[in-house]
Amino acid sequence: MTPSSFPKQTNLNELNRSVQTELADFRVFFKDIIATDVPLLDQLLRYLWRQKGKEIRPTLIFMTAKLFGEVSKRTFIAATMIELLHTATLIHDDVVDEADSRRGFLSINKLWRNKAGVLLGDFLLSKGLLISLEHKEYILLKILSDAVRQMSEGELRQLKTSNLQNMTEDRYFEIISEKTASLIAACCHCGAESVLGDGITESQDALLLKHAGLKIGIAFQIKDDLLDYGKEDIGKPKRNDIQERKVTLPLIKAMEAAPAGDSKSIRRIFRKRKKNRQEIESIVQFVHRHGGIEASESKMRSLIDEAVEDIRQHPLLIQTKDSTRKEALDELIALLSYIMNRKS
Ligand code: IPE
Ligand code: IPE
Ligand code: MG
Ligand code: MG
Repeated sequence: MTPSSFPKQTNLNELNRSVQTELADFRVFFKDIIATDVPLLDQLLRYLWRQKGKEIRPTLIFMTAKLFGEVSKRTFIAATMIELLHTATLIHDDVVDEADSRRGFLSINKLWRNKAGVLLGDFLLSKGLLISLEHKEYILLKILSDAVRQMSEGELRQLKTSNLQNMTEDRYFEIISEKTASLIAACCHCGAESVLGDGITESQDALLLKHAGLKIGIAFQIKDDLLDYGKEDIGKPKRNDIQERKVTLPLIKAMEAAPAGDSKSIRRIFRKRKKNRQEIESIVQFVHRHGGIEASESKMRSLIDEAVEDIRQHPLLIQTKDSTRKEALDELIALLSYIMNRKS
C-alpha cells in the first residue's frame, strides 16, 4: 500500500487512535512544563493553550517510535521539545509574516503586538531546549538545536526572495527544506532515536529516518503552500503568501507552464507591496489555469511515496515479520495520507 493509494484520510482524530493515550499523556506533560508565575506570560500561555494545533509533530514522533519498539520516556521528552519549538516558531513566524490569525483565533502579535509575540516565542524556545538538559538528553538537544538553526536560516533566506525573478524551484526547495522539513525530519529522527538509541551515542539506524523525514517535511510544506491557493477556511490568513510576496511551488509551476505574455502582467501584480482582492484573485486564477496546483500535488505525492519506500527499505523493517511493526507502518502511512489531504 502507498499513501497515494490509501483511502483518503481527512480526520486526524480517527487516525490518531493508535497514539491517543500517548497524546493525552503528552498534553499533561506539555501543560506542566509551560507553567509560569509571571502574570502576563501566564495570560498568553492560557490563550495559547485554548488553541491547540493539529499536533502532527508529536503524532509523527510517537508513530516513528512505534515502528521500532515501545514509546519511552525519551519519546515523550522529544515530543514535548518539538511541539514547544514548533509553537515558538509559529508565533515568531506570525510576527515576520504580519499574520493576524492562527489556528482560527487572532494571532498573538495581533492581540498583544509584536513585542509579546517575540518574547513568548523566546520563552517557549528556551523551555523546549531546557527540558533536554533537565533530562540529560544531549542527543535530542543536538538534533533539535540543529533543526532550529536551519529553520531560522530558511526563514531568513526566504526574506530575500520576494522577487519572482530570483526565485527558482531549487531555491524554493532549499528554503522549505530548512524552514519546515528540518523540524519534521527531526521528528522522525528523534522518534526512532528515542527507542533505538542508548542516549550516549547517536543511533545510525535512527539517523536513516531523518532522510525520509526530510521528504515528508518538504511534502508537508508543499501542502501548506497549496492551502494558501485553495477555497477552504484554513484558520490562518489565506492568500497571505501572495500578499506577502512569498513565491511558492504552485506559482513557480504555473510560471513555468504559462506563455510569456500571460506571465508578464502577473509578475507586475505580484511585485506590488499592497494588492487588492481582485489582483490577488487574478494570481490565484493564473496558478489554477496553468496547472500549478496539479503539478505541486504531484510533486508532493511522489515525495511521500519515496519517503514510505525509504522507510520500508530500512534494514530493521525490510524483512520484519513483526505484526506490531507492520501495523505501525500502516498507521504512519495513514498519517501521511492525512497530511496530503488535510483541509487546514
Ligand atoms: C504550520 O504547521 C507551519 C508550517 C510549517 C507550515 P502546522 O500546520 O502543523 O501547524 P499547527 O500546529 O497544526 O497549527
Ligand atoms: C512555515 O511557513 C513557517 C515555519 C516554519 C514556522 P509558513 O509561513 O507558510 O507557515 P504558516 O502558513 O504561516 O503556518
Ligand atoms: Mg507564516
Ligand atoms: Mg503557509
